Amino acid sequence: PAPTPGFPLPTVHTQEAFDPAANFTSKWTRADAKQIMAQSNPNVTPGQNSMSPNVTMPEIPKDFPAMNDDVWVWDTWSLTDQNANQISYKGWDVIFSLVADRHAGYGFDQRHWNARIGYFFRKTNADPAKDKWNYGGHLFLDNTSIGNTEWSGSTRLMQGDHVNVFYTATTFYDRAERNAGGGGIAPDAVIAKALGNIHADKNGVTFDGFQHTKLLEPDGKLYQNKAQNAGFAFRDPYTFEDPAHPGQTFMVFEGNTAGNRGAYKCTDSDLGYRPGDPHAENTNTVNTTTGSWFQTASVGLAVADNKDLTQWHFLPPILSANCVNDQTERPQIFIQNENGQNKYYLFTISHQFTYADGMRGPDGVYGFVGNGVRSDFQPVNNSGLALGSPTDLNLAANNPSGNQSAQQNGRQFQAYSHYVQPGGLVQSFIDNVDGVRGGSLSPTVKINFAGGVTQVDRSFGKNGLGPFGYLPTNVRVGGEGLY
Ligand code: FRU
Repeated sequence: PAPTPGFPLPTVHTQEAFDPAANFTSKWTRADAKQIMAQSNPNVTPGQNSMSPNVTMPEIPKDFPAMNDDVWVWDTWSLTDQNANQISYKGWDVIFSLVADRHAGYGFDQRHWNARIGYFFRKTNADPAKDKWNYGGHLFLDNTSIGNTEWSGSTRLMQGDHVNVFYTATTFYDRAERNAGGGGIAPDAVIAKALGNIHADKNGVTFDGFQHTKLLEPDGKLYQNKAQNAGFAFRDPYTFEDPAHPGQTFMVFEGNTAGNRGAYKCTDSDLGYRPGDPHAENTNTVNTTTGSWFQTASVGLAVADNKDLTQWHFLPPILSANCVNDQTERPQIFIQNENGQNKYYLFTISHQFTYADGMRGPDGVYGFVGNGVRSDFQPVNNSGLALGSPTDLNLAANNPSGNQSAQQNGRQFQAYSHYVQPGGLVQSFIDNVDGVRGGSLSPTVKINFAGGVTQVDRSFGKNGLGPFGYLPTNVRVGGEGLY
C-alpha cells in the first residue's frame, strides 16, 4: 500500500504457515495498529464517526428491545461442531450467553463478578424478526462449576448427544470486590470443560449430567499468571479441528505474555517498522518514555492430548500484541477456502482503553489471516480492525465502564464481544447506545471478507442491521420428524 502522509507503512507479514507446535509467534505490531489512525478521518466534526464505513458497525437504534427482562445478556456463542458449523439440534437452535440477574441490586458494569452461563433456544424455522429466544436458565446447577463465576467459552456437540462446554472458571476471593467490581484480591482463572447431555422434545431443550474437569492454568512461562500480574488475562477457550492436522483438537484462548508486570521490554519486532521508514519510532524511546511495555496481550494455543479432551498442553502463543494492546479476547479461528487454498482467519475482540501509549482504535473485532493455525498473520485491512463501534478516534480513549467524554460519539460503546459466525454474520451484545445501557443481543451485521480485506455489507438487513440476536444454524442433527 501507499503510505498515508505522516504515517509509517505496516509491517510485512508473509502469511507463511508453521507447525502448530513451532516456536513462532506472529506479531500485531505498532506499525500495523498505526494504520487504524492512518485510515481514520482527522477532520470530522468532533464526536462524529472518524472510521471508514467499511469497518464501522451501523448505528443501533436507541429503542432496542430487551432479549430477557430477568437477566442481562452479554458474551454469546452458538452450539457448534469442531468446524464452527452452527448446529440445529432436533429442530432447535441453541445459544449460550453469559447472564447476570437484573434484579439483584448490582449494576450492569458489575456483571463480570456475577456471571453465569445461561442458554436460549428457539425453533430452527422461527422468524428471527418476530420469535423471541426462549430462556432455558442457567446451564449448570448452582455451585457445581469449577470457579465462582463462569466466563466465556464455546460449546461443541459431541457423538451420542453429549456436549462439551469449554468455559473460563474465574474465582473471586473478595465478596466486596464481587459486589463493587474490581480492585480487590486477584482472582484465579482456570480453563475448564463440562461434559453433559443435551435433550430436546417438542417443548424445547434441556441439559443435565455435567461433569466438570479443570483443563489449563497459566504456567507463567508461556502465559502470564496471577503471581506475575494481578490483572492477568487467561480465558475464553474456543476449540476447533484443523484439516491440515487431522485427529487433533486445538484451542485458542486469551492470554498475556508471561513475565512480571512492568518487566517487559518492547522489541524492534513488536514495533515492526520497515528499515528506513521516516515515521518509525525508536525502540529505546518507546521503552523509556511511553509505558507501552504494560500492554502484552496474546492469543494462546493449546492442543488436546487425549480423545476425551480432558488433558491438554500449551503451545506458544499464535499472536502477541506486545506494546500495542493488553487484551485480545474471545479469539476464534475461522477457516475459509479462497482460490483453492484454506485461509485461517483469527478473529479477536478488543477495547479502546486497552491500547498502549500512542495507539488508538475502537471497541470491536479485529482479524488476522494466514495459511495455517500458526502463521505470520497479516492483519485484515492492514490494520487489524475488522468492525468497530462508531467512534471519533481523534478524541482520547474512554473506558466503557468509566467516565465518557461528552464530546465523543454516543455509540462508541454501542456493542462489544463480536462473534463471527458462518457466512460472515457477526453477533455482539449491546453495551451503551447513547446512554441507554444494554445487556441484550445487538442486531446481527454481516461482513464480507476475502484476501485479508473485510467490508461491512450494508445491503444486509436494514442498512446493514439484521435481526436482533440472529444466530442461524447451518447444519442439522437429529430431528425425528420434528421439522
Ligand atoms: C468479554 C469478556 C470476556 C470474559 C467475559 C467476562 O466481554 O471480557 O473476555 O470472558 O467478558 O464477563
